[in-house]
Amino acid sequence: MAVFVTRRIPAEGLRLLSQASGCRVQQWDSDEPVPRAELLAGVAGTRGLLCLLSDRIDREVLDAAGPGLKVISTLSVGFDHLALDEIKKRGIRVGYTPDVLTDATAELSVALLLSACRRLPEAAEQVKSGGWTTWKPLWMCGYGLSDSTVGIIGLGRIGQAVARRLKPFGVSKFLYTGNSPKPESAAEFGAEFVPLTRLAEESDFVVVTCALTPATQGLCNKDFFGRMKKTSVFVNTSRGAVVNQEDLYEALAQGRIAAAGLDVTTPEPLPTDHPLLSLRNCVILPHIGSATYATRSTMAVLAAKNLLAGLRGEPMPHELQL
Ligand code: GLV
Ligand code: GLV
Repeated sequence: MAVFVTRRIPAEGLRLLSQASGCRVQQWDSDEPVPRAELLAGVAGTRGLLCLLSDRIDREVLDAAGPGLKVISTLSVGFDHLALDEIKKRGIRVGYTPDVLTDATAELSVALLLSACRRLPEAAEQVKSGGWTTWKPLWMCGYGLSDSTVGIIGLGRIGQAVARRLKPFGVSKFLYTGNSPKPESAAEFGAEFVPLTRLAEESDFVVVTCALTPATQGLCNKDFFGRMKKTSVFVNTSRGAVVNQEDLYEALAQGRIAAAGLDVTTPEPLPTDHPLLSLRNCVILPHIGSATYATRSTMAVLAAKNLLAGLRGEPMPHELQL
């Protein structure tokens, strides 16, 4: 059974595949993305594919793989990079890595929120550049979480873990929006299910933790940012495409909102001359939500287990229901 692994991954995951009997592993053994031509050649005749969120697995790839491809295992909780309709049509099973990255991603979301609202990168830069001349009462002030209202877009696994971490900072009210109310999840925080417009208008901090779907694409747009308070902070750790970036740029540049923290952008990486990077009130990270050593290792093991279970026709630890 030939499997193709599209990148260098934590050793624990690769070892499981290499040591599995009957499994023949081919890998794009690099930290850089596999070139499209190499991907198309690499998947040809394979039974299993272990891919990353940065690999677009569309019809062309599935055609190149041929009818023998039975399992796709993605090293991610997100699956917007997979052409699920095509995959389903061909009877291919899909594994993914929820749960194991929830804590790391929630932690990063909180770090990014605090970095943006307390202006940490900007302040640290002042120390290095000599801009710090003395203690000034009116300098480098930002916004804190005490008595604030936090609005969460997508109160799923990660959204709840973010709320759980923010609560002890003194947040007085949680709002959330999504496909439908989740009373059981919301009860822990007394979170109120509200329309997106009200969430925008009342939140001091907006945190986006929803999946990217046709329904959430471009959800945070000019109207949304226009409703936010001038003193509010926007944080996105889900997918860049949930945000209309031009609208976000204008809101930040014109001071319509106070600041933003983004772990995800469109595209990734963002070109170094992108307008968003010129803003002092926008903190941008290179999609590192799940990037702790332990979490990435656990993700690799889970992705390998999903792949092997799929190849053997067994239930996967985490299979996407198509
Ligand atoms: C990260 O963005 C993931 O989907 O795992
Ligand atoms: C701050 O360091 C203070 O003493 O108020």
